[in-house]
Amino acid sequence: MIISRTRKELEIALNKLSEIPGKLALIPTMGNLHQGHLSLLTIAKKKASKTISTIFVNPLQFGKNDDFEKYPRTHEDDIKKLNDEGCDLLFLPLNNKEVFSSIDNIKTIKSGTLGLELCGKIRPGHFDGVLTVVNRLFEIIKPDIAVFGAKDYQQEILIRQMAKSLYPNLELIKAPIIRADNGVALSSRNNYLSEPELEIATNLYKCLYKSSISYKENIDLKVIIDEAKKYLNSYNLSPDYFELRDENLNKINVNGYDGKKAFLGSVNINKTRLIDNIEF
Ligand code: PAJ
Repeated sequence: MIISRTRKELEIALNKLSEIPGKLALIPTMGNLHQGHLSLLTIAKKKASKTISTIFVNPLQFGKNDDFEKYPRTHEDDIKKLNDEGCDLLFLPLNNKEVFSSIDNIKTIKSGTLGLELCGKIRPGHFDGVLTVVNRLFEIIKPDIAVFGAKDYQQEILIRQMAKSLYPNLELIKAPIIRADNGVALSSRNNYLSEPELEIATNLYKCLYKSSISYKENIDLKVIIDEAKKYLNSYNLSPDYFELRDENLNKINVNGYDGKKAFLGSVNINKTRLIDNIEF
């Protein structure tokens, strides 16, 4: 695997890769890689002849009370994992300038009203930061394909909407959620939790799953959501939201919606916020 730490090095590596025929797939990450991230690479490798991952803890998507400073940075391990999985190129920028050139002159991408809902309500500006960095990575790397996880349901939808207008030829792939044996969606933030806390976290998945079954059984949606919140609160999980949305993130307030949809939940354990969803 080639590792590029600067834009210049990246340019050279991309030029070299361009000699190999076929498509280039991009997997953007913030590192601290786990099987969830690596599953995106596996999917990318099936769809493209060349793969590039990026590891960049993007300051623009962290609020001032977020965990930017303590976000786990585990480059050595990450490099080994990507290498073992056969990734061709890793862009691991040395600093912010290698991504944005000038931090004062960033082309901000706005996430609109959808970016203010759900996670955006709790983390103002977060999705503008995500779209801004993802747009920048698309600009610099010019991939044919990009892979994002269904774990970040709202993020995937917002990126899809942005790409539709700015990169109509880019193919986006949504990768399924990878979970631990106990059902918890893999996440770098799980590292902040103790064993007992991780055990409590399983209740978010259980609650999402149970809610999806209840909806299929036509139990009143309002009752399902009330019960879900009560259930989560009974485990001290203090949910920020628990909602049913369609695949474009429109709210669903009724029973009997037969298109693709997902229950989405966000909970807090100590100071760690976890998100998860079940699409059905
Ligand atoms: P990060 O949290 O590192 O996630 C990188 C990618 O891995 C995202 O597309 C995310 O949805 C996916 N992912 C994480 N956990 C997963 C799991 N358990 N199963 C499947 N996919 C999973 O998301 C970001 O970084 C950033 O916002 C980024 C898009 C890189 C922009 O900075």
